[in-house]
Amino acid sequence: MDKILIHGGHPLSGSIKVSGSKNSSLPILAATLLTREPCVVHGVPDLSDTHYMLQILIHLGAQVERASGTVSVSADNIESVAPYHVVRKMRASICVLGPLLGRCKEATVSLPGGCVIGDRPIDLHLKGFEALGAAVRVEGGNVKVFAPKLTGAVINLRGKFGPTVLGTDNVMMAAVLADGVTVIEGAAQEPEVVDLANFLNKMGARIEGAGTRRIIIEGVAALHGTEHDVIPDRIEAGTFLVAGAICGKGITVKRIQPEHVRSTTEALASCGFPIDIADHAISISPNGEAKALELTTEPYPGFPSDMQAQMCALLSTTDGISVITENIFPQRYMHVAELKRMGAEMQLEGATAVIQGVDRLFGAPVMASDLRASAALVLAGLKADGITEVSRVYHIDRGYERLDEKLSELGAHIERVKET
Ligand code: EPU
Repeated sequence: MDKILIHGGHPLSGSIKVSGSKNSSLPILAATLLTREPCVVHGVPDLSDTHYMLQILIHLGAQVERASGTVSVSADNIESVAPYHVVRKMRASICVLGPLLGRCKEATVSLPGGCVIGDRPIDLHLKGFEALGAAVRVEGGNVKVFAPKLTGAVINLRGKFGPTVLGTDNVMMAAVLADGVTVIEGAAQEPEVVDLANFLNKMGARIEGAGTRRIIIEGVAALHGTEHDVIPDRIEAGTFLVAGAICGKGITVKRIQPEHVRSTTEALASCGFPIDIADHAISISPNGEAKALELTTEPYPGFPSDMQAQMCALLSTTDGISVITENIFPQRYMHVAELKRMGAEMQLEGATAVIQGVDRLFGAPVMASDLRASAALVLAGLKADGITEVSRVYHIDRGYERLDEKLSELGAHIERVKET
């Protein structure tokens, strides 16, 4: 197992390019199962999560080729069963359920296990499949869905924590091959849902309204192969902007869609960091007198839960008392105890973190517990005095392409070593 060592206090400068979006790539790769014809997807980041997804496609019978960021998938003959040993490593494996149901009219996928960021149920996905006419059974750790025929329906996918991203993706992917019109009310509006809808439309689907709360899908008889570029990863982009804020002399994040990171740039600007937005690049400059902030995570276009841990790291060193409330995954605070080991002063009150900014953080051995929590520890390490050792780096490799190398290019003193 690798760990990352960061010698803190070396200011970052220069520019980096954002990779393709993990959370777009995963459902888009799953959607290639919807056609017998070959699909080519460009900009797929080299991450363990995209690797797991390709392993699942191969297990299901697809032919897969990968050359740098381009993945070709040909799913001519597929089967519809994804057992536990194939799906257990990644919760997002569940997004093969919708395309398998759409194409094969039946699917058995092992249920993803628990997750440190919270419970992560799939009741809304299943409610959507049932509304399309599928019978759903959960037995032996598997979810089985079966429908001699899928029929369009009006489905409200809003749950008690708001809309569901992968639930919207899954139901949309099943509905594209249903008879008649499906209306998803309470749909997730995230850019990754829009990217998937664009991909499906290029395959011949008829989807309108992606990016709004109401998605309308007119079912078609079959889809065909296509080629697509995934959007830039807005969470990777946001993470680098926070890196620039926490320890920058001035950095530029390129290959970015500014609209997708607007809530993050607005939060950073409210703290006092000067931000310059161009067409596909955002620059951030330091501010020695950055201020505290009140922040609540919300579905897009609100501030993303996937950026909450990174903001905790930043706000632990800005002047005054910051308050962050996590509305999407109320238990997503595994980074708090580790940041406290580095000298941060923060208290949890239910789903709210109250952060008293400190002048300095100190390097310490810390443990990554999930993807975004790990990124927060790396960011804190860039700022801290001395050496921070982040262990269990495989969490970072799930979702950030070459994070250590990109930070190194910006001037961070960061190295990856084998854990003994
Ligand atoms: N929820 C339900 N029932 C469901 C589905 C979700 O109650 O059937 C709840 C969840 O427990 C949560 C809320 O609804 O409280 C939103 O969850 P959502 O379904 O939107 O999450 P997801 O689709 O499983 C995706 C991203 C996550 C990101 C969330 C929220 C992918 C592969 N994953 O998960 O990304 O945090 O949306 O934006 O797209 C990450 O990249 O680190 C990550 C965890």
